[in-house]
Amino acid sequence: MLIDLAGKVAIVTGGGRGIGREIAETLAREGVRVVTTDVRRELIDGLTATFAANGWEGIARNVDVRDASAIQALVDEVVGAHGRIDILVNNAGVALEGPVETMTEESWDTSQDINLKGTFLMCRAVIPAMKQQRGGRILNAASFAAIVPSLGGGAYASSKAGVHYFSRVLAGELGPWDITVNAYAPGMIPTELNHFAERAPEEQTRLLDTLSLRRWQDAREVANLICFLCSDLAGYITGTMIDVSGGKLATQIPRAAYERAAEAGEYAF
Ligand SMILES: NC(=O)c1ccc[n+]([C@@H]2O[C@H](COP(=O)([O-])OP(=O)(O)OC[C@H]3O[C@@H](n4cnc5c(N)ncnc54)[C@H](O)[C@@H]3O)[C@@H](O)[C@H]2O)c1
Repeated sequence: MLIDLAGKVAIVTGGGRGIGREIAETLAREGVRVVTTDVRRELIDGLTATFAANGWEGIARNVDVRDASAIQALVDEVVGAHGRIDILVNNAGVALEGPVETMTEESWDTSQDINLKGTFLMCRAVIPAMKQQRGGRILNAASFAAIVPSLGGGAYASSKAGVHYFSRVLAGELGPWDITVNAYAPGMIPTELNHFAERAPEEQTRLLDTLSLRRWQDAREVANLICFLCSDLAGYITGTMIDVSGGKLATQIPRAAYERAAEAGEYAF
């Protein structure tokens, strides 16, 4: 059974670094014509050249997911160049943390504007092209925080829960055109979003202890899921949030299994 994405056309937002960069490069490696966007020009400068140097088809554009007219111009450019948009990955996101009591309105608004409204604006813009071609795949970055939020994550978790439910509604609305819409929930991938790997060792241990697979996730493991969801193999999956969090949502005290394994001499902390 093979995943064949060759020749498809994808837009990946926030592809300048982190998980988005991995998704964009993985899709490009699979023969997808990838249009990567990011709000930070310096993160995508040179990305088009990197794609070309690897023999991949792809371009990078400096687009803010909060800017509806820039998004429309991007979509017009992609449809003009390729005649279609098969895949949209709404990866761009921010994690602004802090207790509600001291959270600024700016922090709240930025979280909702980028994570939730940005997802809406991108989806709205690609719908006409996907309807016309009677098919498409929309994948929206949510988080396990949409189900089990962290303290201090009032703005982040609510925006990601919004992404989850928005995806469900859109899946229903676009079913008649065979367009699937899903959210996905990555686990804990140390990136500049969270700086997990730079935290104090005890703090890292505390975080890892919440995972059934007690290790940091590799961004490639999210990119692999995206490839599957974009493929013909996943044509009947829509309106759900796919958990790719290493068991973050599975059990209450996953560390206990590791303690038992350690007692049996089969795991070393
Ligand atoms: N890293 C994790 O452990 C983790 C876990 C769960 C969910 N996620 C989600 O995955 C996505 C990617 O996370 P990451 O860890 O790679 O983050 P990251 O900060 O490394 O990358 C996010 C990218 O989005 C871009 N971006 C931010 N605002 C933007 C805007 N307004 N318009 C366009 N681009 C914008 C940034 O410039 C950056 O390149 C996010 O939506 C995040 O919430 C990450």
